Amino acid sequence: MMASPSIHVDPARHISKVDPRIYSGFTEHMGRCIYGGIYDPDNQHGLSDPKTGFRKDVLAALKELNVPIFRYPGGNFVSSYRWQDGIGPKDARPRRPELAWLTEESNQFGTDEFMEFCRVMGAEPYICLNMGTGTLEDALAWLEYCNSSANTYYANLRRANGHSEPYNVKYWSLGNEVWGPWQVGQMESQDYAKKAYQWAKAMRLLDPSIKVVSCGETGYADWDRVTLKKLAPVIDYHSIHIYTVSEGDHSVNVMGPAAAEKAMDITKSLIDLAKIEAGLDKEITVCFDEWNVWDPVRAPGEKGAEEHYDLSDAIAVASWLNVFVRKADVVKIACIAQSVNVISPLITTPAGIIKQTTFYPLKLFANLMQGTSLDIHVVSPSYEGTKTVPDFISKLEKQDQGRYTKWIDVSGILTESQDTVRLAVVNRHPSESFEVPIAFGPACTVLEDAVVKVYEVWSENLKDSNYYDWEKGVKGEEKVLIVEKDVKPGDWNGSYMFKAHSFQVLEFEIRRG
Ligand code: AHR
Ligand code: AHR
Repeated sequence: MMASPSIHVDPARHISKVDPRIYSGFTEHMGRCIYGGIYDPDNQHGLSDPKTGFRKDVLAALKELNVPIFRYPGGNFVSSYRWQDGIGPKDARPRRPELAWLTEESNQFGTDEFMEFCRVMGAEPYICLNMGTGTLEDALAWLEYCNSSANTYYANLRRANGHSEPYNVKYWSLGNEVWGPWQVGQMESQDYAKKAYQWAKAMRLLDPSIKVVSCGETGYADWDRVTLKKLAPVIDYHSIHIYTVSEGDHSVNVMGPAAAEKAMDITKSLIDLAKIEAGLDKEITVCFDEWNVWDPVRAPGEKGAEEHYDLSDAIAVASWLNVFVRKADVVKIACIAQSVNVISPLITTPAGIIKQTTFYPLKLFANLMQGTSLDIHVVSPSYEGTKTVPDFISKLEKQDQGRYTKWIDVSGILTESQDTVRLAVVNRHPSESFEVPIAFGPACTVLEDAVVKVYEVWSENLKDSNYYDWEKGVKGEEKVLIVEKDVKPGDWNGSYMFKAHSFQVLEFEIRRG
């Protein structure tokens, strides 16, 4: 028999503070993310800032998402990128063959433009180093260019290029997906670990204040174990990447993020193991610097990976974000891949911008799900299908009683002011609505004379999207948005009807004690 669902909230059960950096972004030189996305100096519709060439509509939309960090310049792109090509007078910058996506790189946007973009956005830059064709000397030169205030060559070159003050880039990662056969300079785990150890050491000699990120795989791969064991003494974060896919099946789509939840359990254990083995007493956390719903068959990287998302994808993204809030003690940085056009909630055309379905859950989380993550107790029937991607989800969940594949998927926070609880609730079920009792306690009640605010993302059909005719370039109806509804004072009866395939944030004012 299916358990009838219920949610139990105790604001004293803290997991950890939600790190705002879990709502970070990623801008790769790939497809139309940089060129035609954030940077569009020749825009004919007056949408770009004449001085910087930045798309004003894109920056405004990204500001709605409160993005604290942008990762740059790749991704696979970085593994054959010569950063020195992207600085100095624009007409002297060389065009180069680009080996990740088999295009050409004009280098009209480079390090200084990226730093300006971050400054305008009020975000911190995060640089991924080229461990493919790049040398340690190139990496040190890049760090010197960005962070040094000394009287040395690359610091002076930055000054000569018009930037007197160092950028103080805090986050540096040691290569991208170095394990992948598609990577220029792919390595074996042991070889990578040895090399990355030496790079981390040298980077820290030049600037001891930086935070160093190791290149992990999925978090549940042997690569993660081997590299963490060697690199734990010299890193602050371990990076992992996962993309989930629907293969045309909504349940597969929305249960995909369970892999990320499992990945973080395993990564946490691998970090602990590395710390035990090396006798370390330091903090190492997860930097989930690429995540999203991506089907590389329907949106291939070589063609710019422009995904056109529907409601099902928005529900999957909400479940992804629930995982990050629930794992607030393990994951301190996460970057949606990517911020514009490429596998993104935002798509530009020369004449405007489309906020895709997935934009709205991200906006709600980034603005509302901040504070202390709560350990919410959820009773719910779970997915019973055998098809999941990756397939280990359904196999593990059989023994684990469907812990990570509940139809009612919840995360919760207590605001800093301690008087408000917000619950992010996804009803992942494709066709069933659930009336769910929400109990508060012990020593906590919902204020009777206050409104329960509800922010809902929902539409009739799982295939609904914020329509755009990609062939004709015509914008149509936007079906998936945020709808705000209030439960009036006195009307809260202790339960809520969660419609099939819906996402909502519920906001309760509470009294404690
Ligand atoms: O985000 C798109 C690509 O996916 C990145 O370049 C790469 O790191 C990953 O394989
Ligand atoms: O599309 C090329 C590569 O294929 C991506 O970078 C990788 O994530 C995927 O498996």
